[in-house]
Amino acid sequence: MKTEVDMPYRPTIHFTPTTGFMNDPNGLVFDGTQYHLYYQYNPFAPYAGHVHWGHATSPDLLHWTDQPIALDETGAGEAFTGCAVMDSHNASGLFRTPQGGMVALYTRASPHAQAQYLATSYDNGQTFEEYARNPVLDISSNSFRDPQVCFHKPTGRWVMVVAKSRLHQIAFYASIDLVHWVHLSDFGPSGLFGVDYECPNLIEVAVEGGGTRWMLFVSVNPGAPTGGSITQYFVGQFDGTRFIPDNTVIGLTDFAKDAYALQVYSNMPDAEAVSIAWLGNWQYAQELPTQSWRGAMTLPRTMVLRRDFTGGLRLAQTPRGLDTLRDTPLACPAGRLAAGESRQVSLPQGRAVELCMSVTVDERPHGLKLGDKGRTGRFIITFGNEGGEKLTIGFDAFSGQLWLDRSNLAGFAQPFFTGQFSTALAPDDRHFEIRIVLDACTLEIFADGGLAVGTALVFPASPLEFLRLEASGAGATIGSLNLYPLRKTMPR
Ligand code: FRU
Repeated sequence: MKTEVDMPYRPTIHFTPTTGFMNDPNGLVFDGTQYHLYYQYNPFAPYAGHVHWGHATSPDLLHWTDQPIALDETGAGEAFTGCAVMDSHNASGLFRTPQGGMVALYTRASPHAQAQYLATSYDNGQTFEEYARNPVLDISSNSFRDPQVCFHKPTGRWVMVVAKSRLHQIAFYASIDLVHWVHLSDFGPSGLFGVDYECPNLIEVAVEGGGTRWMLFVSVNPGAPTGGSITQYFVGQFDGTRFIPDNTVIGLTDFAKDAYALQVYSNMPDAEAVSIAWLGNWQYAQELPTQSWRGAMTLPRTMVLRRDFTGGLRLAQTPRGLDTLRDTPLACPAGRLAAGESRQVSLPQGRAVELCMSVTVDERPHGLKLGDKGRTGRFIITFGNEGGEKLTIGFDAFSGQLWLDRSNLAGFAQPFFTGQFSTALAPDDRHFEIRIVLDACTLEIFADGGLAVGTALVFPASPLEFLRLEASGAGATIGSLNLYPLRKTMPR
């Protein structure tokens, strides 16, 4: 729907619902030909409630086609978060052919009860039929939700992770037919505590350089160090029964606050680990300054584990396939910027842009008095407009930290919509590499090859018209610099 005020905020390459309210991604599955994105959806109003499963399909995770609603709210409750898997050998016995089909497992939620339900699709995920003997898993709880299921090859059975939200635990179950589930173990409380544990995901992820580890993602809401909703992760081993973390480290998928309820794709060729998260935060999701629709998804992200400077394994996320959307880069020269110097280029209007750059800031000046830490060497990236609004991403070379500041944008204010975030990059490294995707009301930052990721909603009152690069306190050399307008190659 083209409501005038909403137009400038509607992303062009991120998935958004045409109307209504969207939160978590659900049922992320590759069916052998296309990718499915189901999502928590209120089709009636741009507020959370009356939750259905919305649906879109894509050949590449970037070009999405809207599909009819897949799961309705029923007398048994709303269709809360869940997953979809390909039951390709008809292990469930619920399909008429040996090739099986798609199975969705999700939570039916009423104010008094949350239990896990099953639905089958005989037409590749277009429509679902509810299993006659639902629920398939019910522990008489009203905080038991968000099942995610993966096939565990070594034990030859399906494994479900599901949140006992208020107990701050993730329960593990196993099944050979997706219908009958046996309790295996419970994980937690562990990591951030917060109010509710939600949307767990278990996946085996490749370690760069060889091998794999298991990752358990747990969304916490509210309770994030940055406020509100956050996705945390643990790295460890899954032995078919129990998840054993390697250590007590809690990873966060994001240093800002708008990437929640991360879910991983099921049935990916070559076991590629790909995720999509809801680009939002419950603290302000229902008050965003759009009127006909609310909610966006992150870009699809490839996930690997990488050893960082501490020797520990950390999640690295990069946007998947984005290079296929790149248009001719805009003229934007690399080279030297002396301390205090800046360079500015115009931004194309109404387009998503990707900025890729690598920068080395000059050494800290020699001959400083002992204890004098007063000098800074900062590289500042500003997306701004003539009205004085600016969105800033900056690198402080002498402390090896990155910041993001959305507080000088005037389109939205709310007590929880905090403006400034920061993260540590590799210390003692004056060099940084960054990819920034700015697409209307969405900003995604990937630094240090994806080890530091910041996802933020941004609401300028007027369009951002220019990009300014500035060296402050010390000179800097821009080794490489590319600014691409991004375009869809297929119509929606
Ligand atoms: C997470 C969540 C889930 C729940 C869904 C309801 O954002 O609260 O726990 O299933 O949203 O829409």
